[in-house]
This record gives sequence, structure tokens and C-alpha cells, in this order.
Amino acid sequence: MIYRLCIRLLASIKGDLVYKYAYLWVYSFCKLCSFSPIKLSIPLSRVKVMGLSFPNPLGLAAGFDREGKLLRYSQALGFGFVEIGTINLDSQKELNCHAIEIIRNLKKAARPYQETNRIQKWGINLGSLRNTLDEQTVADYIKGMKLFWEYADYFVINLSRPESPVRQLNSDMEELNSFLDSIKHQQSKFILYSDKHIPIVVKIAIN
Ligand SMILES: Cc1cc2nc3c(=O)[nH]c(=O)nc-3n(C[C@H](O)[C@H](O)[C@H](O)COP(=O)(O)O)c2cc1C
Repeated sequence: MIYRLCIRLLASIKGDLVYKYAYLWVYSFCKLCSFSPIKLSIPLSRVKVMGLSFPNPLGLAAGFDREGKLLRYSQALGFGFVEIGTINLDSQKELNCHAIEIIRNLKKAARPYQETNRIQKWGINLGSLRNTLDEQTVADYIKGMKLFWEYADYFVINLSRPESPVRQLNSDMEELNSFLDSIKHQQSKFILYSDKHIPIVVKIAIN
């Protein structure tokens, strides 16, 4: 009933305010649930995607919990996965404040799960602000994969920015294929070194 009421109220709000209200509500519910003496168990309706077992198919899309502030609470509210980011990294610069804050939040959220299994899945959505698909852009994504490898259940290579070169690619897709080959090559190396398989998905928007 509360869910239906919230959805109705949100549907009546116009423009960008919807996102702000939705975040505020989810944040408040998450906090309330975490302080409640009655611990809710996450609703199970398992789905297997990319070899990962998600507790249920309901999650928070990229852009909603960009910094991972809700990570510590959102499993208690029933979300089967959270996609953090987009985190834009530049391989030629120092880590930015955004990335540092996310690592801090991931560390905090991971701590309570050291003894017990975390069933909520964490996706890490990586971006680059370069408008190319060259070696430097590959290096930006690889920096992100390396940095977040220990926390991620899956990675998203986000190429859906409005300025992304993928939106303007011509039909042979050669540049994109070579870019993805480099990412896959690096993924194989990380898997070999860490003995942990992390699937990668690519997010593309076509104009
Ligand atoms: C306010 C807002 C911010 C978003 N920010 C991001 C983002 O940072 N990175 C990203 O990959 N997608 C972002 N998205 C896209 C969502 O993750 C999602 O792909 C999109 O809303 C489509 O989902 P739908 O088909 O369920 O509506 C954003 C969406 C909204 C509405």
C-alpha cells in the first residue's frame, strides 16, 4: 500500500524534482529499516544473469545512488542490486573526490558482510569523459576496473553519455570492436590474477 501511494505521489510531480523526492524517500526508508529492531528479510525471487545470482530483479539504476550512500541500507529495504556511478576516471590524473568518496562508502558497506554473505549485488558503472575510444580511453576504464575489482559483482562500461563517440559511429563498428577487445583482454588478465570472475556489460545509447 505504501509503495502504491509513493508511486502515485511521485507520478504527480513534474520535472527533475521527481528524482530528488524519490531519492529522499528511498534514503529515509532505508535509514528507518536499518534502525528498526525488526530486521526485514530481502524478498527472494532469484534471477540468474551473467552467471550471477540476483536475489530479486528489483534494483537501483545508475545515477540514483551515484556515490553509494545507500549501499549500507538498501538490502534491508529489499533491493536486489545497486548500480553505483557513473564514476568517471582519468588515467592521467589523480583520483577525483567522487571516486574517493565511493571507495569510502564501498569499504563501509562491505565491512558488515565480512562474516555473512552479501546477497545484494553491486554493479560499478564506469565512465570516461574523453570523446574517443582510443588507448587513453581504454586506460581510463581499466583504471576503474582495477580500482573497484575487489568490490564489484559486475562492471558497466558506460558509453551512453550524450557526447559518447559510440552515438556517432558509422556502420562498420570497427573502433568499438577494438575498444571492447582491449577491455576484454584486460578483464581476462584481472580474472587470472585475482581468481575472481567479474562480468562486464556495455551500456550504449543510440541517437
Ligand atoms: C536523473 C537520472 C540520472 C541518471 N544518471 C545516470 C548515470 O550517471 N549513468 C548511467 O549510466 N545512467 C544514468 N541514468 C540512466 C539510468 O541508469 C537508466 O538507464 C535510465 O533511466 C533508463 O532506465 P529505464 O528504461 O528503466 O527508465 C540516469 C537516469 C536519470 C533519470
